[in-house]
Amino acid sequence: MNMVVATEFKPTIVGFLCNWCCYGGADLCGVSRFQYPPYLRVIRLMCSGRVDLSFIFRAFAKGADGVFIGGCHLNDCHYDPEGNYDALGNTLMAKRILEHVGVNPERLRLEWISAGEGVRFADTMIEFSAKVKSLGPLGTSEDTAVADLASRLDAATQLVPYIKLVERERLRVPVRTEEGYRNFFGSEEFTELFNGLILDKLVMSRIMGFLRKQPVPAVEIAGSLDLDPSEVARHLHELTEHGLIKFDAGEHLVAAV
Ligand code: FES
Repeated sequence: MNMVVATEFKPTIVGFLCNWCCYGGADLCGVSRFQYPPYLRVIRLMCSGRVDLSFIFRAFAKGADGVFIGGCHLNDCHYDPEGNYDALGNTLMAKRILEHVGVNPERLRLEWISAGEGVRFADTMIEFSAKVKSLGPLGTSEDTAVADLASRLDAATQLVPYIKLVERERLRVPVRTEEGYRNFFGSEEFTELFNGLILDKLVMSRIMGFLRKQPVPAVEIAGSLDLDPSEVARHLHELTEHGLIKFDAGEHLVAAV
């Protein structure tokens, strides 16, 4: 008789920890023998502000089920201007983009944990590990194939330089407090700017990534990427006008760059 053995899901959580605070908190947690689930893969950075949007997207594209960012408490960052405000802005922006590429934004978490907060580090890891476990492997709660999510995340990664430019020029947070950041990223003004400046480019980046892999008849693109045909037609027109895509000898579309 064949027996089906259920295997326990052990999530992979990538943790970007600031050297001066959260990494110290993790160290204290270990020295003090506080227990937490063994799912965290730690990457030590000198400041949480060093966590680029592309680090987050790449971690998920490479198979992480969750991403954790741990920084110094606000106003305790060791650098000037304070990097942890950048980490806050990047996390809020990343959550919005993850939502649009189809990754559950709850898989990304940011916390401020000092070097003296070993217990808090353990408690946070216990809580976040349970959250990620409840969501299941990447793609499960999203009901989307992992390969599909990976190609959408690659498209988002390609767009990061543009997003940084837009953030600098058009998406400046008016008040540098935690509340100010959360209010701004939750505002209608932000949604409007995000939709107008970033969403279309995200779709175009997906189309470009798809065409870089192989020449495709134009009519197949919308179906392959699960996009609205009229939206795809609009983007193909713009991409052609800018010389970013072209038809090859077989009348298939290809990326020109
Ligand atoms: Fe820790 Fe900047 S030095 S968040």
